[in-house]
Amino acid sequence: MLYKSLAKPFLFQKDAESAHKFAVKLASKTSTSTFLQNSAKLVYGFEHPSLKKEFFGLTFPNPVGLAAGFDKNGETPIAMQALGFGFVEIGSITAKASEGNSKPRAFRLPKDHSLINRMGLNNHGAEAVIKRLSSLKLNIPLGINIAKTNNPDIHGEAAIQDYLYSYELANSVADYITINISCPNTGEGKTFEDPDALEALLNGLEIHKNNRKPTLVKFSVDTNKPTLEVLVEICEKHNVAGYIATNTSSNRERLLTSEEKLQEIGNGGLSGRAIAKSSNQIVKWLFEMVKNEKPIIGVGGIDSPESALEKIESGASLIQVYTGLVYEGPGLVKEIKKALV
Ligand SMILES: Cc1cc2nc3c(=O)[nH]c(=O)nc-3n(C[C@H](O)[C@H](O)[C@H](O)COP(=O)(O)O)c2cc1C
Repeated sequence: MLYKSLAKPFLFQKDAESAHKFAVKLASKTSTSTFLQNSAKLVYGFEHPSLKKEFFGLTFPNPVGLAAGFDKNGETPIAMQALGFGFVEIGSITAKASEGNSKPRAFRLPKDHSLINRMGLNNHGAEAVIKRLSSLKLNIPLGINIAKTNNPDIHGEAAIQDYLYSYELANSVADYITINISCPNTGEGKTFEDPDALEALLNGLEIHKNNRKPTLVKFSVDTNKPTLEVLVEICEKHNVAGYIATNTSSNRERLLTSEEKLQEIGNGGLSGRAIAKSSNQIVKWLFEMVKNEKPIIGVGGIDSPESALEKIESGASLIQVYTGLVYEGPGLVKEIKKALV
């Protein structure tokens, strides 16, 4: 209520990236203020024992997580815990710090309850982010999402070494690690969704080793079923702990936003309500492929209790939100949890 009548009109006056920056700043202030944390808990808190889940050796107080991309630099986990999230995923982080693509690079599509972004993996770099997270005392699982540094000159074996650098650093503080192979916003496109490249990457990371944290792979929403089958077969061979479906889309079909506005915005990954259906389809295919044996974290277009339930009915064991928060505010987390109970 408070969000829609006060905060949202204020935030929507700003461009999408400035509004996000403001929200992260407020959340990082909350992370250092017990007063703000207690206030957030008072307004947004909702706990129930039936929400508790156990997957890959971790306990999730509830199944609603913060998706990667909101907090790329690990500045807000304590605030997110106070807002009632059951887990948070930081990142994507990359081996080298990166400014990302030139601005503007994030756009709202209000008619579609969606966003388009081409941030381009901007982050402070693995070392700085892991250092920040290493002193954190969090009561919910902490995921760290890793990607390759956004630089097309890093490819082949160097690309694997680039991932490995972040992976080993993340391994020291994360409860689980997500390998992002599906960012649509880099110069070279989505190279690691190529089966041979994925095989080489998972081999290079040696994710099967005993000392590795549970490692998940995040897929694009634009993957077709035969490709997904091949990719899952490779992941299963390497014994990944689970899957995240899905990342954003390069597709622009059936949007309510005008063609003219889409042209003006240009390239980027579409997220939010517009990808809910196709994202649910990927979750369904994944569920068919791995059954109940591997947890699927469902993400893409959750902006209401109904869309959260649809994701779970599609086969998701845990869910994440990002774009829904922009349109609905942090109260969405509590609403979903209440509906689940
Ligand atoms: C501005 C923005 C930045 C994102 N950055 C990342 C990222 O760095 N790594 C990643 O794996 N996903 C990233 N995502 C994708 C989200 O984690 C999520 O998979 C996608 O947005 C679909 O969920 P949603 O419809 O709830 O937003 C980003 C999404 C947005 C909107």
